[in-house]
Amino acid sequence: MKGVTQLGYMGFEVKHLEAWEKFTTEVLGLGIRERQADGALRLCLDSYKQRFFVSEGPLNDVSVFGWEVADDAALAEVVARLEGVGVRVTAGSAEEAALRSVEKLVKLEDPSGNPLELYFGAERASQPFVSDVVQGGFVAEEQGLGHCVVSARDKEEATRFYAEVLGFRLSDHIRCTFYGFPVDLSFFHANARHHSLAFGGPQKKRIHHFMLEAKHMDEVGLCFDRALKAGVPIMQTLGRHPNDRMFSFYAKTPSGFQFEFGWGGREVDDATWEPTEYNCISEWGHHPPIAFAPKAPPKEGQR
Ligand SMILES: [Fe+2]
Repeated sequence: MKGVTQLGYMGFEVKHLEAWEKFTTEVLGLGIRERQADGALRLCLDSYKQRFFVSEGPLNDVSVFGWEVADDAALAEVVARLEGVGVRVTAGSAEEAALRSVEKLVKLEDPSGNPLELYFGAERASQPFVSDVVQGGFVAEEQGLGHCVVSARDKEEATRFYAEVLGFRLSDHIRCTFYGFPVDLSFFHANARHHSLAFGGPQKKRIHHFMLEAKHMDEVGLCFDRALKAGVPIMQTLGRHPNDRMFSFYAKTPSGFQFEFGWGGREVDDATWEPTEYNCISEWGHHPPIAFAPKAPPKEGQR
């Protein structure tokens, strides 16, 4: 079955563009490939011309998920499956494709109302991006920009849509409780990256987080340092997930949803992979620091 091959790009419509520029370039280490006349940013992290589109607006959320397919034939096959299950698919105009630097795109919504674009033929930059912040670079290229954990109003409906229609393959599940909250997450891959997509249930925003993966372990600590110094709220401490083996931390973007910055994600080989289930979200770490904040000491004379 032809389907999605990678998470190709993401768009964010943000309230505070200046804060996002500082955050994406100085904390995450992304590059500005282009600044549009209205101030919108096109950001890069590898040889793809652009991976993130950040524009100013009231939404303060993800504005688009761009999922890549191999070619025109793959796009036609996926669109036929979408229309077969009653999903409305709109052809993107030549201008829209040019804005994304892709050959052709179509637009649709997933069952939860998340705006998706499917495309092929992404343009590469004449020079691959080399970050002077994340000097070792990112794990990206054919593994896509990273992964995202999206809001899903109904998990079974989302599973049918992403697996049976868009062609994602199940990696595994995590079912447990985490600081009193029930966790029931399913993870899906579209290439060798352990997961490009995961979901559990409805989120306040269109994603819980997106993840970028560095090629070197020290980059995780360096990014943690940059986040601390920039006053970016740390949401989960350093830790390691049991399923993708990612060593990472989580912090808040200027729009309230989170990002994960990691290293060491394992790869999936479809020939031998067996989906399984884990009963913890992390082998160690990934604690919310707020749960460990010291209580105010008793005042003098109150002991
Ligand atoms: Fe993640």
